[in-house]
Amino acid sequence: MIRLSKRLEVLASFISNEDSLVDVGCDHGYLSIYLKKNNKCKRVICSDINQNALDSAIKNIKDSNLQIDCYLSDGLKDIPMNNIDTILIAGMGSSTIIDILKNKDKLSSVKKIVLQSNNNHEELRRFMNDIGYYLEREEFVFDKGKWYVMMLYSKSNKKNSDSEIKYGYINKDYGLYLLNTYQELLKKIPSDNDDYLKYEKKMKEIKTIIK
Ligand SMILES: C[S@@+](CC[C@H](N)C(=O)[O-])C[C@H]1O[C@@H](n2cnc3c(N)ncnc32)[C@H](O)[C@@H]1O
Repeated sequence: MIRLSKRLEVLASFISNEDSLVDVGCDHGYLSIYLKKNNKCKRVICSDINQNALDSAIKNIKDSNLQIDCYLSDGLKDIPMNNIDTILIAGMGSSTIIDILKNKDKLSSVKKIVLQSNNNHEELRRFMNDIGYYLEREEFVFDKGKWYVMMLYSKSNKKNSDSEIKYGYINKDYGLYLLNTYQELLKKIPSDNDDYLKYEKKMKEIKTIIK
């Protein structure tokens, strides 16, 4: 039986049994297999740009005695989106996620997007508002020595506040982690450098939010 990591468990909790989703960049397919096996979603399809990754998902799906459609595809390009209302993209950088979601034609029926990006969260949050998705919920998870940021978006004309774009729904633990990261960066930057002032400002803002 597949045991989900804490990161994948939290991502799974963002999916409801009403959702018909595509797991973009499914790799081993663990999350999709878990969702399907436990009836946590209405429908799931798997896709990956890499044939070896997709082959491993296909093998794991077969070993789990499940039937899940799998597609070799760069992002959403070759995925039939009929009846798909949810997209899940996890374990990639923000620039790859943004490139994938720039494919506007593929988003017409998509009401919900679940993301876990490894970097540049502010840039990703800004982009998501620009394409008409609102950050409803965010979870910060510490798993195997690393912090992960999980985002739940819904289609909406509503815009997130400046603070939500910059820091999401930051909590105390993740805030303290960011403060420590910026503190370490400041040690390496001359104090008259623009980046020094940028990180100093961020630290002040984070302290205000989490206090
Ligand atoms: C680090 S793995 C993450 C796997 C899984 N989503 C997870 O969170 O555990 C990233 C996967 O994304 C795939 N990938 C990268 N760029 C992609 C793209 N443009 N379209 C589809 N899949 C992509 C990679 O081949 C790889 O299997």
